[in-house]
Amino acid sequence: MREREMNIKKKGALSLTFIALLVMVEGIERAQFSSSFLFGTSTSSYQIEGAVSDGNRGPSNWDIFTQLPGKIKDNSNGDIADNHYNLYEEDIELMHSLGVNSYRFSISWSRILPRGQFGEINQVGIAFYNNLIDSLLLKGIQPFVTLNHFDIPQELEERYRAWLSPEIQQDFAYFAKVCFDEFGDRVKYWTTFNEPNLMVIHGYLNGEKPPGRCSEPFGNCSLGDSSTEPYIAAHNVILSHATVVAIYKNNYQAKQGGSIGIVIMTAWYEPLRNITVDILAAQRALSFGTAWFLDPIFYGDYPTEMRQILASRLPTFTAEEKVKLRNQVDFIGINHYSSHYVKDCIFSPCDLDDLSGNALVFTTSLRNGVPIGAPTGMPTMYVVPYGYGQPRNNGESLNDLINDTKRVEFLKNYLSFVATAIR
Ligand SMILES: *[C@@H]1O[C@H](CO)[C@@H](O)[C@H](O)[C@H]1NC(C)=O
Ligand SMILES: *[C@@H]1O[C@H](CO)[C@@H](O)[C@H](O)[C@H]1NC(C)=O
Ligand SMILES: *[C@@H]1O[C@H](CO)[C@@H](O)[C@H](O)[C@H]1NC(C)=O
Repeated sequence: MREREMNIKKKGALSLTFIALLVMVEGIERAQFSSSFLFGTSTSSYQIEGAVSDGNRGPSNWDIFTQLPGKIKDNSNGDIADNHYNLYEEDIELMHSLGVNSYRFSISWSRILPRGQFGEINQVGIAFYNNLIDSLLLKGIQPFVTLNHFDIPQELEERYRAWLSPEIQQDFAYFAKVCFDEFGDRVKYWTTFNEPNLMVIHGYLNGEKPPGRCSEPFGNCSLGDSSTEPYIAAHNVILSHATVVAIYKNNYQAKQGGSIGIVIMTAWYEPLRNITVDILAAQRALSFGTAWFLDPIFYGDYPTEMRQILASRLPTFTAEEKVKLRNQVDFIGINHYSSHYVKDCIFSPCDLDDLSGNALVFTTSLRNGVPIGAPTGMPTMYVVPYGYGQPRNNGESLNDLINDTKRVEFLKNYLSFVATAIR
């Protein structure tokens, strides 16, 4: 574990050096990337589809959550969203005009199975995704399908509290099989989960997303327990992932020829001060953020740092589950937004960070008042240069907004680094 993290750390330092050099780079060319390199766009079902009551779709946990007073700042919801359900052909035209050759989207579980395994398969939902997949392929755009991006049929929440119950494994397996059967002849890239680490942190540690469960000091929810539930939910997600990967590998991969993986949110953590306790704290933050999911998936068990701190609050895998977990994925997806400084809270008590709080660390974007990177439109995200969100409402004209030089610069530098890494 220690050695692996030091390796990652070395790479991190290296990438910063490259980026510093690449700021000088004038431009990037398609030819710097092999023809098999995929450039893409990506979305999630609840954020774009809308049409929440059309085509027999069942209610999802997000439909219910966004209706609760005070949960969403401006009371907005996904009822209409980008109306992608009706405008998908136009959206594909836009992607085609950008020149991308891949598109990552998630399937709305309750559009395929309005009541999970407790009801019928919805043929209207199947038809929608068939049309979407066929239209993408006609334009030479490879579909990357995410089975779960935070949204689940509400019925599973009400019957057995969804991710808090091991029962969810059978439901997720059933859903995945329907998707492999219906779409696997054309879909060659499958992702079991998108950012499950964020899903359980927001759902069960700070309660900001469905099912909105948490306890103090991490949040103020009417139900939940932030000291145990994130780990129980994560455990059931990890086992659900392993079950579905095994199903794909054993029953579909040989005849369909696709690959399957998982996408994790990966933040980078730097010690705030150059002292041992902060260096250890940064390692703990990495363990509680990324290795929490990737260690079981690669090595069959949770990181040592998590076991030391959480003890019996962290569930255990049986010997059989460890074998099922180990080294089964074909790829790992990385979503990266930003980097943070980390301060130890074990030896000198401090406010616990609400994302990696049980790691007993405090995270900040400032060191001696200096931000870790250029600021963006997102308050905790800085260009390090890994993540970027454009500021809004600064009185810019539409032309200024479209002339998005900072984002272009960011993408150029980032892609230059990817090209260098490939070389
Ligand atoms: C927690 O929420 C309740 C009900 O919304 C509110 O009355 C209380 O003041 C909140 N407590 C804190 C510490 O924010
Ligand atoms: C951290 O401190 C050690 C010695 O205590 C020193 O060798 C090293 O260069 C320092 N690293 C940074 C990044 O300042
Ligand atoms: C876009 O912005 C850059 C830098 O702010 C400026 O130099 C350039 O003239 C602008 N281009 C257009 C078309 O407005």
